Amino acid sequence: MRIDDIDTPALLLDLDAVEDNIATMQRLLAGSGVRLRPHFKTPKCPQVARMQLDAGAIGITVAKLGEAEVLADAGLGPILVANQVIGEPKVNRLAALLARGVDITVAVDLDATVDALAEAAARAGTRAAAVIEVDAGLRRCGTSSPAETVRLARRLVEAGIDYRGIMGYEGHMYGQSDPQAREALIREALGVVGTHVEALAEAGLPPAIVSTSGTASVELARTFPFITEVQAGTYVFNDLHNEEFVPGRFRFALTLLTTVISVRERYAVADCGLKSLTNEFGPPLSPDGRLKAARLSEEHAILSGEGVAGLRPGDRVELIPSHGDTTLNLHDVYYVRRGGEVVDTWPILAARRFR
Ligand SMILES: Cc1ncc(COP(=O)(O)O)c(C=O)c1O
Repeated sequence: MRIDDIDTPALLLDLDAVEDNIATMQRLLAGSGVRLRPHFKTPKCPQVARMQLDAGAIGITVAKLGEAEVLADAGLGPILVANQVIGEPKVNRLAALLARGVDITVAVDLDATVDALAEAAARAGTRAAAVIEVDAGLRRCGTSSPAETVRLARRLVEAGIDYRGIMGYEGHMYGQSDPQAREALIREALGVVGTHVEALAEAGLPPAIVSTSGTASVELARTFPFITEVQAGTYVFNDLHNEEFVPGRFRFALTLLTTVISVRERYAVADCGLKSLTNEFGPPLSPDGRLKAARLSEEHAILSGEGVAGLRPGDRVELIPSHGDTTLNLHDVYYVRRGGEVVDTWPILAARRFR
């Protein structure tokens, strides 16, 4: 199949770029002692996770049980759920995964989530494993003091849960656009994680896993001796938002192929809108930067920029998403390309697995 034969809007995945991004991240971590457990929220596709594991990743991180189920069905793992699991339907689904023998570690940050995990293990007739999520400054989930973390670690041990360590994600770094201030913020956040590590060690509960960090903080995280692994996700495809924070390091692997449906005097209209492309992180751009999806309605994109002058109805235009993760979540398949050839189609099996 050629790219010209694909109906639009459709997601193109550049396999050369994905391979390069995976290799770049592995090279960045090589020799640091910090390993990679990439976040599945970005690719949501077992073929990509398999490539990451083959390149040296020690497992896969997920946000939702639905993503974990997709990985388990594909035989991929070990899985770290970097999120809280609570409520009857989820306890049942976690129990089902445990009963299948899936190697899954779940984050906890309250007695209630420890109880949910213990309940899932009891239903499965097996043992569960956990890391304690600590708040590194994001103010989302996570314990707010080392003393609370030590108390939860003891509770895990008492509950017969395999206590594996801690995680803390410094996602608030993306709120800081100044590179120097961002570096200081990341150092401070990772320092907070370090205070939890110290308290646990003093309590005789040293964490085997200390998992932190996303694409924009891996470079600093690898210099912290107590960090054992990182959870970066976006690096594998990159997008315009990530490029602002980590310029020039990763290639753009994901583009939305669109068709021009109308050409007006100063703008053109493409056949994609908010139902196939997101813009909460700014306007998507063409790879040469000459076209901008300045405005999106549900099924239309208003294209502006110097590239508009050359457009004709029926032309194909590729757009790099500003936020890849939320864009790809709207789709069901990647058209996998090498240069101008479509070499495969990969289902995005975990798209919209937000439960
Ligand atoms: C808990 C957690 N870990 C890791 C990441 C990965 O970060 P990034 O997309 O910057 O690579 C995220 C991103 O949302 C996250 O929520």
